[in-house]
Amino acid sequence: MTTASTPLDKWEMHPRHFWLRGIRPEAPIEYDPEVGMWHVYGYPETLEILSDPATYSSEVAARYVSPEQAAVAFDGNLTQADPPEHQKLRKLVGRTFTLKMVAELESRIAALTHELLDAIEGDTFDLAEALAYPLPVIVICDMLGIPREDRELLKEWADQSLMASTQLTTHQGDKAQEESLDTQAEAAMAMGFYILELVTRRRAEPQDDLLSRLVEAEVDGERLTDRQIVNFANLLISAGHITTTMLLGNTILCLDAFPDVDERVRKDRSLVPTLLEESLRYLSPLAAGYRVTTRDVEIAGVKVPEGDVLEVWFSAANRDARVFEDPDVFDPARTPNPQIGFGRGIHFCLGAPLARLEGRVAMNILFDRFPKLRVDPDDKPTFLTSPEFTGVWRLPIRVD
Ligand code: HEM
Repeated sequence: MTTASTPLDKWEMHPRHFWLRGIRPEAPIEYDPEVGMWHVYGYPETLEILSDPATYSSEVAARYVSPEQAAVAFDGNLTQADPPEHQKLRKLVGRTFTLKMVAELESRIAALTHELLDAIEGDTFDLAEALAYPLPVIVICDMLGIPREDRELLKEWADQSLMASTQLTTHQGDKAQEESLDTQAEAAMAMGFYILELVTRRRAEPQDDLLSRLVEAEVDGERLTDRQIVNFANLLISAGHITTTMLLGNTILCLDAFPDVDERVRKDRSLVPTLLEESLRYLSPLAAGYRVTTRDVEIAGVKVPEGDVLEVWFSAANRDARVFEDPDVFDPARTPNPQIGFGRGIHFCLGAPLARLEGRVAMNILFDRFPKLRVDPDDKPTFLTSPEFTGVWRLPIRVD
């Protein structure tokens, strides 16, 4: 095991994310009896898995809930679908979530960022609460056509689900897991009923919003069912609630830890897009995804039986020294940077263009408005507790 301390060590990153502390995995894949799953840490191995959905299925959730429950809860949830169902769904929703539509949001995102920052009082504040959390939530809710006055409700459900999230295990009867899945299911159900009502209204009276487009979307004569629209909207709201929040927070953490990079990017703003790519590599917000094997396989010389669950660590693969030179060095101009923070293959993040746009606009405005932006030395950031995420919950900032 090779160890190199990094400037991020001063913060309490999740203990499972040992690679963030400069420790290299002993092997690209290992079995973890504690959770009954395989951890995949290597980059080439991760790409192999993500590029072969026939062998590595995304229908993992069905292992934790009954097939009947899975059919209700995950129908329309792209992340849990395999081809050919996945292809059909992705085509349908892809029609509504277009690059053009995202690009048109730039001035709205800029105005919103200013509005949120204008509301800050004093030299110390929580940047997650002030900007990183509300910005992506407002953007996705506006896109979907969710009334402003209902945003607090959605936040409550999204937070409930997020806070319940723990390390998954394949062991039957794990009490903590059962409770966490129940809480998440309750929150998803409450949100589902709420969205269903909006969908019903859009069917009767379409508006200029994403929900109406989802209702009307058609490919080869097929349309999305209400349940699929509800589950897809649910996924967008959850993804919109937390991932870009983490990207912004993580980028600030990196700039704080590496002041020379902060200075360099402030002087040359053309580096902002590659800064964000490096942030996605260095502190990948969605740290892991899951797959289940559909046949006996061999990964990096290790035999994995059919039906076993793999926890694929995007975040660890992004530190693989076989692919990234000096992986623990934070380089805002890293070239090439084939980071897989948005995944790869058929499940590549649908929201990546939106997240990149929000990140670029918000970072530029933060640089413009705050010549000095530091994590408050008298306070500490707190992190999300689920090992599936790497991101702040609270980010105390000082701007003197
Ligand atoms: C899928 C990361 C923002 C919507 C994914 C996956 C990753 C990811 C790693 C693939 C998971 C897998 O293969 O198992 C991120 C990160 C984000 C971000 C790091 C921000 C920095 C967003 C946003 C949205 C979104 C803002 C939408 C509002 C989705 C959807 C999928 C997805 C719908 C499923 C795609 C599919 O299965 O075909 N995301 N995401 N994401 N993401 Fe994102």
